[in-house]
Amino acid sequence: MINLLIMGKPGAGKGTQAKRLLDYYQLKHISTGNIYRDEIKKHSKIGIEAEKYLSEGNLVPDKMTNDIVKDVLCKKDYPKGFMLDGYPRTDAQACALDSMLEGLGIKLTAVINVEVEDEVLMHRMAGRRVCSNCGETYHVEYHPPRVEGICDYCGHKLIQREDDLEESVMNRLNIYNEKTRPLLEHYQKKGILMVVDGSKPTEEVFKEIVDRLGE
Ligand code: AP5
Repeated sequence: MINLLIMGKPGAGKGTQAKRLLDYYQLKHISTGNIYRDEIKKHSKIGIEAEKYLSEGNLVPDKMTNDIVKDVLCKKDYPKGFMLDGYPRTDAQACALDSMLEGLGIKLTAVINVEVEDEVLMHRMAGRRVCSNCGETYHVEYHPPRVEGICDYCGHKLIQREDDLEESVMNRLNIYNEKTRPLLEHYQKKGILMVVDGSKPTEEVFKEIVDRLGE
């Protein structure tokens, strides 16, 4: 069983690497960002509440996020393991996760931190396009779809995420530096932190992670 947590600034490529790692290790994907975007699409109670935060690039309150992750983890429907993506993001979430995992008798195999400089991130997020239907991610320059503006997989229209506009990106970066970055030390102390250079091409980053996980 491999239980991974992927961290990094907004736009570092967490979702991109997560997708490859999930396929490779057959893991369950637990992305709080994707969960919130799905709930917003469904106009559910959670979605209506979360939208207020996501549209401005702010964090959804800890309690709501912890409850969601707890529900997912408690199902234990991940025979080969899971990949947490975008969670935890605050000290309170990291503490909640520690006690959830302890209660379930589960350990994290590794915490992967994808490091990328801010300038590169701004360019990545400005060029990111996502499928309005299946959520597949593209980049106008680095990973374009076969037909401009159309998803390769389901044929729906590609859109720009509301929180990828410059003002929201700056806010997300500030929040990351203030609240999420300090968590790296928590995992460093546990001896499970793996830092990778996320500015390299996608396949190279993926290969480095797999080589270092050594499974
Ligand atoms: P979330 O969805 O987690 O957003 P994020 O952390 O800001 O991360 P992103 O999805 O923006 O980027 P990514 O690192 O996955 O990059 P990607 O692979 O797409 O969260 C969104 C919001 O939800 C939060 O702001 C918050 O409001 C809420 N939320 C979520 N979790 C929460 C929590 N725990 N607590 C409270 N609130 C929460 O790549 C980016 C682009 O670069 C793409 O176009 C891609 O094609 C391209 N790219 C990727 N890798 C490479 C590469 N190596 N070379 C070239 N291009 C690349």
